[in-house]
Amino acid sequence: MSKSVKELLSDKEFIRKVEKLKKLYPEERSSLLALLHLCQNEISYIPHEFQEFVAKELNISPAHIKGVVTFYEMFFDKPKGKYLIQVCRTLPCMLAGAEILLEHISTKLGIQPGQTTPDGKYTLVNVECLACCDKGPAIMINDNLYTRVTPDEFDNILKELK
Ligand code: FES
Repeated sequence: MSKSVKELLSDKEFIRKVEKLKKLYPEERSSLLALLHLCQNEISYIPHEFQEFVAKELNISPAHIKGVVTFYEMFFDKPKGKYLIQVCRTLPCMLAGAEILLEHISTKLGIQPGQTTPDGKYTLVNVECLACCDKGPAIMINDNLYTRVTPDEFDNILKELK
């Protein structure tokens, strides 16, 4: 189980990583995206408390940080599921059946893009190109890429996820 944000912010090793990242850039505020990634890598999302912490660290307004977190699809401000299912919605994949696949996944899991199943197992999101446009529809589940995915293949993939 991952740490709480309170535990994270009192972890000396984590704070050392924060300081190190801040020094990597000519201006500390330029480390914003790196710090957000650092938090998300540790606890899978970027809670409000961490956003406040970064705002103080970098002397940036909390509203600006929230704007950045909510702008980028790669960042989550709520806990995400154990499995993050990203479905490419760019034109070549859409023409290859991504819309039908997305509808199937949505129905199968009972969630819409941007939502997490109540058991915390799956989060579904739409994303732009996953860089294998000639093999659509393409999806990623955590770090694994799947291409030419049909609804039936998705069901088989799902069975493998524990
Ligand atoms: Fe889907 Fe590029 S359009 S991977």
